[in-house]
Amino acid sequence: MKLEGKVALVTGASRGIGFEIAKIFSENGAKVVLTSKNSRQLEDSANQLTNTTSVPADIRKEEEVKQVVKKTIEIFGKLDILVNNAGVFPKIKQLHEISELEWNDVLDVNLTGQFRFTKFAIPYLQKTSGTIINISSDAGLKAYEGFNADAYSATKAALIVLTKCWALEYAKDKIRVNCICPGVVDTDMTKPFLITQKDREFMNNDHPLGRIGAPEEVAKSVLFLACEDSSWTTGAILAVDGGQSTK
Ligand SMILES: NC(=O)c1ccc[n+]([C@@H]2O[C@H](COP(=O)([O-])OP(=O)(O)OC[C@H]3O[C@@H](n4cnc5c(N)ncnc54)[C@H](OP(=O)(O)O)[C@@H]3O)[C@@H](O)[C@H]2O)c1
Repeated sequence: MKLEGKVALVTGASRGIGFEIAKIFSENGAKVVLTSKNSRQLEDSANQLTNTTSVPADIRKEEEVKQVVKKTIEIFGKLDILVNNAGVFPKIKQLHEISELEWNDVLDVNLTGQFRFTKFAIPYLQKTSGTIINISSDAGLKAYEGFNADAYSATKAALIVLTKCWALEYAKDKIRVNCICPGVVDTDMTKPFLITQKDREFMNNDHPLGRIGAPEEVAKSVLFLACEDSSWTTGAILAVDGGQSTK
């Protein structure tokens, strides 16, 4: 019970990595607000867990994000942990083939969305000396041959430097800010790249540990950064990627 008495807000929690983060938080005694865009799936997911509630919102809409934070406070009275996890992955195209609209759509969710949640959460995290965990990606750490998702890589790299900026900016309030960079994890996001057995073998072999990751493995690292076990850790960028980014 590493999070007894804590209140957490997890974005993109309806499925994939975000759901597993909400699950491990609730199993460790936290009260958890799950948020994402699709309200039905979100509610179903929250209903599978104890001590949780769901508040749907489109991360691209400032007023909806503000309401999620407000409702978190109304329901649970405070906020200790924010996990900026929501994200989208674009169609694979080279830079010269993408429109400005496609570029901005990715930035709106993966970068400005994290700004929105963080901005509204900070005043409450200042009261609790809380913590923020940003979910970036290996794609924010380096370039990969044939990856061709530049808007995505740009948002994930930005989140890495923002983790350090926010860690410095809010250290005086004792808010810790850390970041996780997963490699390829088996979720809806990576389904299009794992269709055939051959795809899966390729992805497995691309990771030095010989396999892609499970969302639960990312969630365990998020738990570490959310709880007292990491009490002296801030501004850290943790690769949870089977060694992929070391190559
Ligand atoms: N899977 C990987 O291999 C991998 C690797 C590195 C980093 N990551 C990062 O890990 C995070 C989670 O990825 P995942 O694989 O779990 O993805 P996923 O299964 O596709 O889930 C994405 C989540 O983000 C939410 N979301 C998307 N657009 C949104 C919007 N406009 N407003 C609110 N919520 C929105 C989705 O909500 P709805 O259900 O409502 O659509 C869903 O809950 C992402 O930031 C991703 O970039 C993933």
